[in-house]
Amino acid sequence: MFPLARPRRLRRTAVLREMVRETALDPGDFIYPLFVRSGHGVRSEISAMPGNYHLSVDRLVEEVGAAAGDGIRSVLLFGIPDRKDEEGSEAWSDEAPVQAAVRALKKAFPDLCVITDVCLCEYTSHGHCGVVQEGEVQNDPTLDLLARAAVSHARAGADLVAPSDMMDGRVGAIREALDDAGHSNVAILSYAAKYASAFYGPFREAAGSTPQFGDRRSYQMDPANSDEALVEVGLDLEEGADIVMVKPALAYLDVIRRVKDTYRVPLAAYNVSGEFAMLVAAAERGWIERERTILEVLTSIRRAGADIILTYHAREAARLLR
Ligand code: PBG
Repeated sequence: MFPLARPRRLRRTAVLREMVRETALDPGDFIYPLFVRSGHGVRSEISAMPGNYHLSVDRLVEEVGAAAGDGIRSVLLFGIPDRKDEEGSEAWSDEAPVQAAVRALKKAFPDLCVITDVCLCEYTSHGHCGVVQEGEVQNDPTLDLLARAAVSHARAGADLVAPSDMMDGRVGAIREALDDAGHSNVAILSYAAKYASAFYGPFREAAGSTPQFGDRRSYQMDPANSDEALVEVGLDLEEGADIVMVKPALAYLDVIRRVKDTYRVPLAAYNVSGEFAMLVAAAERGWIERERTILEVLTSIRRAGADIILTYHAREAARLLR
């Protein structure tokens, strides 16, 4: 009790504060999301995500080289296809931008960890993450299509595949398809507890994946639920997920903590596009300090229990930590 106890004693100097600091940020824990499209020499900025670009494969390789110079060792790829159809068939084309990007990146940077987002929403004409029949997103017919996309990413050389669609049973279906195709060493990072969130707004512009009718609430989770997140994570682990993810991160720090405490497995959290855009916009207005806020946000996600953070701030944060 005071005056015996004085917590301020250990806050007095920088050395003391560092000595008792509980949470550390390390660029090795960051995954840097990138958007790849076809063409050559393309680097066009995404307006709602300043500093993020649609990149052709050649420019992507440049960007990843620069990011590696900042200390980034892991990337997540999203594809912008040239054409969309009802099924999203470009998702499993070996010649599509993501597959070409994986091959180019693994060739240029053999040690880089290349992760691919596995979903249909960027590839379907209706913008939903699965097959649509009679106005509804169908679960089971979607599984085979997702598995095909994952196998095609693995064939290109992906280290991990990251299914983000939220269909039931997709982790098991992808695991089985990968193993059957001889890719038993390719790991699965599942978007296990992915919420139907308004924070994906800027991403949908970036990926051109806004649903043309309805919304994603019949497959993504209700923001009000956290027991259900434990159910979702448990199912994905049983189906063979190697790393599980909670998404978004900031409005769901409690979910991150519950998942970590319950399962004690490698846990990722996605600091999504809307979280990024909010911070950048407020900083542009001079309302918050950009650099301090970035580090505080990322620290809070690690402190909540995430081992790995997917973030558009990855390069900048890695530089700040040097
Ligand atoms: C695709 C997907 C989305 C995000 C990652 N994968 C969008 C969505 O579900 O609508 C969001 C990423 C972000 O907002 O940064 N299913």
